[in-house]
Amino acid sequence: MPAISGPPPTAGERRPTGRALVAGAAGFLGREIVQAFSRQGWEVRGLIRDPSKADRVRSAGGVPVVGDVLDRATLQRHSEGCRVLIHLAANPTMDPDLPELEREVRVQGTVNLVAAARASGARRLVVGSGYWVYADQPGPITEVSAVDPQGESRINFDTERAGLEANAPSHLEVVVVRPGMVYGDGAWFRPVLEAVRARTYRVIDGGRNAWSFVSLPDTAVGFYTVALDGRPGEIYNIVDGNPRPWIDFVSYVAARVGAHRPESESFSEAVAKYGPTVATHLRANRAASVAKLTALGWRPEYPRFEEGIDALLAQMGLGAAAPRPPPTG
Ligand SMILES: NC(=O)c1ccc[n+]([C@@H]2O[C@H](COP(=O)([O-])OP(=O)(O)OC[C@H]3O[C@@H](n4cnc5c(N)ncnc54)[C@H](OP(=O)(O)O)[C@@H]3O)[C@@H](O)[C@H]2O)c1
Repeated sequence: MPAISGPPPTAGERRPTGRALVAGAAGFLGREIVQAFSRQGWEVRGLIRDPSKADRVRSAGGVPVVGDVLDRATLQRHSEGCRVLIHLAANPTMDPDLPELEREVRVQGTVNLVAAARASGARRLVVGSGYWVYADQPGPITEVSAVDPQGESRINFDTERAGLEANAPSHLEVVVVRPGMVYGDGAWFRPVLEAVRARTYRVIDGGRNAWSFVSLPDTAVGFYTVALDGRPGEIYNIVDGNPRPWIDFVSYVAARVGAHRPESESFSEAVAKYGPTVATHLRANRAASVAKLTALGWRPEYPRFEEGIDALLAQMGLGAAAPRPPPTG
C-alpha cells in the first residue's frame, strides 16, 4: 500500500482517499473529524459504544460501527480495509482522581489500535492528545518544549508514548496531535458559557495567563492534515496561532451574549474549589506555536477567536448582544 504521507498538496491536487476508522466518533472531537474526512471523499467508519448514538455519526457523513476500544477482536474487524485509524475515545474529566478505566481506554486503547492496524494493514494511526501536557512556561511552546503532564494530561501523555513507541515507518506510521482549547458546541465551552451567563464564572488571579484556542472545524481539518501529511513519529500542535489571555476570551464571550465580564478569584480560592492540580492547570501559561502544522499547508478558517466565537454563537442561536469590540491584536 503506498504511503499516505508526502509533501504538502499544491493547488488543485487530488488528495488520497480511502477508508478511515475513528474511535470516539460520537464525541465532541470525533464527530467533527468524521465530517472532515467524509467531506474529502473518505469512507469513514465511526466507532461508537452506544448504538443510540449512530445518528451522530451518520449525520456527519460516516458509517456507524458498534464496538469498544478495549475489545481487540471487534476493533480488528472494523479496521479491515482502513488506511487510517484515529484514536479519540476518551472520558474527559476535570477530576484529578481519574478512574483507572480512563487509563485503559486511552493507553490500552492505543495498544489495541496498534494491534488492529498491524493485523489489518492500516498504514497510519493518529493519536489525539492535548496541549495541556505542556509545562507552564513562556511561549511560544513548540512540540519540543518542556512537558509537565498532570491529572488527565498524564494519561494523554502516556497515550502519546504508547502510540509513538509503535511507530515503524515501513509498517505503521504513528502521528500525535495536541489540540489547544477547542471551542465548539460541547465539551468545556458549554459549561463555561452557562457559568458566564449565570455570573458564577471566576477567572483565577485576573486570568492574565495566555492560552491557545482553536475552533472545532479548524481542529478537525488539522487532524485530517496531520493524518495525510504529518511526518511519522512526530507530534503536531493544533492551535489558531494567536494565543491570548484567558480573561480576553471569556470577556469576549460574555460581551457577545450580553453577560457581565467575569470576576476574579484568588489562587487559594481556586485550590479550595478545584484542588491544586486543576487550579494550577487553570492558571498556567500555554501560548503554543502552530508553525509545524502550518508548514504542512494547514490554515485556520478562524485565526482569531473573535471570528470563531461569533460563528459558533450564531450556530448555537446566541450572540450579537453587544456591538463587536475592535480588534486588540
Ligand atoms: N475538547 C477539547 O477541547 C479537547 C482539547 C484537546 C484535547 N482533547 C482530548 O481529546 C480526547 C477526546 O475529547 P472529546 O472532548 O472529544 O471527548 P468526548 O466528547 O467525551 O468524546 C469521547 C468519545 O469517546 C467514547 N469512548 C469512551 N470510552 C470508549 C471506549 N472504551 N470505546 C470506544 N469509545 C469510547 C465516548 O463514547 P460515549 O459517547 O459512549 O460516551 C465519547 O463519544 C480526550 O483525550 C481529550 O483530552 C480534547
